[in-house]
Amino acid sequence: MTTKYVLDESRIPTSWVNLMADLPGEPLPPLNPGTGQPAGPEDLTPIFPMGLIEQEVSTESEVEIPDEVREIYKLWRPTPLIRAHRLERELDTPAHIYYKYEGVSPAGSHKPNSAVAQAYYNKEAGIRKLVTETGAGQWGSALSLACRMFGLECEVFMVGVSYDQKPYRRAMIETWGGSVHRSPTDLTDAGRSQASHPTGSLGIAISEAVEVAAKSDDTNYALGSVLNHVCLHQTVIGQESIAAMEMAGEYPDVVVGCVGGGSNFAGLIYPFVRANLRQGKTTRFLGAEPAACPTLTRGTYAYDFGDTVGMTPLMPMYTLGHDFVPAPLHAGGLRYHGDAPSLCALVKEGIVEATAVAQTAAFEAAVRFASCEGIIPGPEPAHAIKATIDEALAAKEAGEERVILLGLSGHGHFDMAAYAAYHAGELEDLEFSEAEMQDALDRLPEAPSIA
Ligand SMILES: Cc1ncc(COP(=O)(O)O)c(C=O)c1O
Repeated sequence: MTTKYVLDESRIPTSWVNLMADLPGEPLPPLNPGTGQPAGPEDLTPIFPMGLIEQEVSTESEVEIPDEVREIYKLWRPTPLIRAHRLERELDTPAHIYYKYEGVSPAGSHKPNSAVAQAYYNKEAGIRKLVTETGAGQWGSALSLACRMFGLECEVFMVGVSYDQKPYRRAMIETWGGSVHRSPTDLTDAGRSQASHPTGSLGIAISEAVEVAAKSDDTNYALGSVLNHVCLHQTVIGQESIAAMEMAGEYPDVVVGCVGGGSNFAGLIYPFVRANLRQGKTTRFLGAEPAACPTLTRGTYAYDFGDTVGMTPLMPMYTLGHDFVPAPLHAGGLRYHGDAPSLCALVKEGIVEATAVAQTAAFEAAVRFASCEGIIPGPEPAHAIKATIDEALAAKEAGEERVILLGLSGHGHFDMAAYAAYHAGELEDLEFSEAEMQDALDRLPEAPSIA
């Protein structure tokens, strides 16, 4: 009985999968917030290098991975695909559950898959420093690691509540040479304008980082999710999953992942979505988001800013409103008002399903998973574990040998304060305020209706 399916290093993908080439219809373009016209590469050059801008707008179905990036991927890739035999037994389900574990990367999550690529293209463009935001600290630590590998400086604006909850993530950022601020700061106009939200949010931290990058020629901005090029880089996860599942002689009926800005889920499913579109496969895709920040299940499909203050191009996405500040849940990486436009388009088309999971239910599922499989999951993938367990129980109910693939995007070793709160019975299900969302939606920017 095999438990772990590990591909050889030579099987690290040689190109990233660009789903944009296969999506039905013309994608809605991002808009320049000033003119309302489609945003072109020139809107992005102040903060991104051309190599990444080309990927952002590419319609090629594959983009070659530079050798320098693949060499660094070898430090942890291919990541293992693991059959959750013990969880299956615990649930007494006929379902076959597999998980693709991205927690083996040096930073403990999928985030370095894009961080290394982004640092590479910025280094190639002669950039000296990268500035970014981080929610739970996963992206900030991944970018700090990647910058160190390419000799770049790294400055991180960390969402206030996570800065307080996760001091060891800060220490990781510093260990790899990056510097880190508690956002909102008084270092930027954006931060000063949001001083009344001391918990911070990803939207606020993005505004701060973009402002710093836009003001300096040798400094660029790096985003850890949402954009096409970030989802593109993460497709190494799905491609390896297809190859490893082949080793197991199986193909998933359903693929489940958590959704913050959408990058790990996109990276996991896009190669499978392409197989549905091209080869007539019928895999289902299920994204799990927090009930306290339910972008895909309760948000409005509209053009909105990617950040709180309104500095980014307008993107077509499900949104809770760019200045909606989500409750301070422990899955800090899922506290984002919007989602990747490409993923939102798939939800809108009915190709991808979404479900909202309450925080305590996510932790209950995570503890159950840890007691069977050993790995202590990050609070973000804990949401996907809850959805996976529900799928496995539904398969039992239906008497089906359903094959489920779960994206386990990272470990929770720096989230033990949240686990401690859960064990002490102090973890709460945070309220989602429909009224606050409506209030924020009243401030959506002027743009063509796409609902
Ligand atoms: C472990 C982990 N999973 C998931 C996410 C959510 O981001 P995304 O939806 O872009 O994968 C994060 C973000 O910080 C994370 O750290």
